[in-house]
This record gives sequence, structure tokens and C-alpha cells, in this order.
Amino acid sequence: MNYAASRLDVVKPSASMAVSNRAKALKAAGQNVIDLGLGEPDFDTPAHIIDAAHQAALNGNTRYTPTDGAPALKQAVCEKLKRENNLTYQPQEIIVSNGAKQVIFDALMATLEPGEEVLLCAPHFDTYRSMTLVLGGKPVVIQYKEENGFRVTPADLESAITTKTRWLFLNVPSNPAGATYTRDELTALGAVIERHSRLLVLSDEIYEHIVFDNLAFESFASACPQLRANTLTVNGVSKAYAMTGWRIGYGAGPQPLIAAMTKVQSQISSGACSIAQAAAVAALSGPQSEVTHFRDAFEQRRNLVVNAVRTIPGLTLDPPGGAFYTLIGCAYYIGATTTDGQLITDDVAFANYLLDDALVAAVPGSAYGLSPFFRLSTATTAANLTSAMQRIAASLAKLHVIA
Ligand SMILES: Cc1ncc(COP(=O)(O)O)c(C=O)c1O
Repeated sequence: MNYAASRLDVVKPSASMAVSNRAKALKAAGQNVIDLGLGEPDFDTPAHIIDAAHQAALNGNTRYTPTDGAPALKQAVCEKLKRENNLTYQPQEIIVSNGAKQVIFDALMATLEPGEEVLLCAPHFDTYRSMTLVLGGKPVVIQYKEENGFRVTPADLESAITTKTRWLFLNVPSNPAGATYTRDELTALGAVIERHSRLLVLSDEIYEHIVFDNLAFESFASACPQLRANTLTVNGVSKAYAMTGWRIGYGAGPQPLIAAMTKVQSQISSGACSIAQAAAVAALSGPQSEVTHFRDAFEQRRNLVVNAVRTIPGLTLDPPGGAFYTLIGCAYYIGATTTDGQLITDDVAFANYLLDDALVAAVPGSAYGLSPFFRLSTATTAANLTSAMQRIAASLAKLHVIA
């Protein structure tokens, strides 16, 4: 029997999930797979955050919170936005959800009319596309241009906007490319958006704290204060505080938008877990030293992978400025053949080859709307990364490349 409704036909199975499932199957069969498909920090949640959750449970903080979030957490988010982003928001302009993903879903569900367009910048987080499609919207991808280094330019943006464009999704630093923008670059994009009053901007800043090379992170809303009524800032505790399993994200935006999103949430989830929200208060308001420690570790690992990639013939790379991924170009190997005569037809075949031959799980760029590339996650130890890069080099050296 086919259980799935036709609305799901538009959702493609996640390529990253397919790699991860194959990697798990190989591991279960006893193979020594190094999984670089991961999208979550390998660190444990800091102890003071776990203590806060424990205390919350013992203190009876175990009931429904208000749909849009516990007052203490909304207050902590306002203080965080002021302290770290120089943004002034009131609690009624904040929503707390089950992860940043639910904030994004609420926003699209609350605002998108059928057939309206959502602008995505390739390469992009695949969830944006799937959510848009399932809600009857049309994802419009601003194509990658090598000379812009994974960033969208004002000219690209202007030419992609139509009368049907409802949202522009920005993700800084980005998954999967780690692209960052300067304040001036954000301001220039803002100048385009200002000319289109119905256009909303979703700025996904979930990797805010993972930026490298002493870069100061700039929130889109603080670079473009004149667009306050058009901007929804999305963030959460998953990546910065190693809290992916706690499922707490938040959004900051104009009160009527937050109210519409709360309406969605009231019927879909009734809000987020009370105990996880107490933990998120401790994360946002407590000591931040672990955040810096995680960031430093991700920067060292980024350097390790970038240096290793540079020694492997044929691979291309624009070093990521943030997040914990490296997106690597593999065009040179498309059309190559393996020692047993199999053709590497595309980046999916390339990632399958890496998994079969090098026992390294990587996600093909096609999962993010950009081929031929592959994404390696640096959310694992330096030792794992070193041996993964050695294995990749050895496997690629065996390929027969047609010049
Ligand atoms: C760009 C981006 N946004 C949002 C999320 C989801 O975050 P959360 O765990 O808060 O739902 C991810 C997770 O992979 C991500 O890469």
C-alpha cells in the first residue's frame, strides 16, 4: 500500500541521509568507515547546561510553556541579540521552536501563498527547498558563480526577483560552503531588497559562532536596520552549544509575523520542550568559554582539511570562512573510471566511490543544488580527519582520469 500523500511527491529523499544510511550499513557489517557526512558537533553539551536541565526537571518545570516560548528564554534571547548582535527586540518579537528548522517551517507556513517564490542561493541547505515545495511554493535558485566564491551578489539577486518573490533565504556562515559576508556585502544586498517592499528575508544564522580568521560575525538585521519589518533572524543552540538533540531554535522578527508563526505552532507542536528551554537559557546566559573552545577546534580542523585537499591533484577548494564543513570541487574526476571499470558519472557516484573504496562518507554537492562537489564535515577528531584525507588521496590516485 502507498501510505504517502501526493504532496510528498515533491520531496526528494535526502542525499545526505542516503550516504549516512549506507555508511551505517557498512559500519554494521564491520567496516571501519569514517563518517564525514555529519551535521552536528562531536562535542558534548557543556555540563552547566545539563545541570540547568536537571534542576528544571526537579523543580517541576515539566508543563507546557507558552506556545511562543518560556518567558525566561525569550528574555535570554532578547539579551543575547542585544549583547552579541546589537539588536533590540522585545519578547513579543521572539518565537522559540523545536530547532531552527521549525522556525523556518512556521515562517513559510504562515506566509507563503501557493506558487510564491523563495530565493535560495546555491549551494544551499536542502531543507529550504523541501519545505518550500511541500508548502506549495516555488524554490528559485540563484546559481553559483565561481568568481563570487559561494556568495550571492546584488546583481544576481536583483535579476532573480519577480513579482512572485516572497522570501530570500540567506545563510551565513553557510551550510555547505561555509561562506561568510562582510557588513558591506550585506548592506549592498539590503539596498536591492529595499526596492521590493513585499520581499521578506530569512537570515539563518545558526552557525554564527563558528567563524574563522578573526572575522567578526555580522547579523543581517544589524547590517540592514532599515529592513527590520522585512527580516526574520533565525538562530538556535544546536551548533554553537553542541545541543542538536535538545531541539531549541528561535526567531526574531516583526511582531505580526511572529504572531502568525505562533498560530502555526499552536496547532502543530504547542511549543518546545520546557526542560530543553531551561537548558537553552543556561546556554545563552551562562559562561561562553566552551563556545570559543569549539570554534577554535573547528578552525584547526578546517585548516587540516584545507591543507590536505591542496595536496590532492584535481580537487578544488574555496576555504570556508565558517561552519564545520568544507565543500570541495571534484569536476576533474567526473568521467574517470575505477580500477574495476566503473564510471564516475557525477558527484553521487563520486561520493559512493569514496565510501566504497576509501571507506569515507561524504555528501555529494547535488544534495545542496551544486555539482560536481562533495561536502566533508569537520565535526570529528583531527585524527579521524587526517586518516580520512589520506584514504581519499589514496583512492583518488587509483582512478583512471581521461585527460
Ligand atoms: C543551515 C542550517 N539551518 C538550520 C539547521 C537546523 O538547525 P536546528 O538543529 O536548530 O533545527 C541546520 C542543521 O543542519 C543547518 O545546517
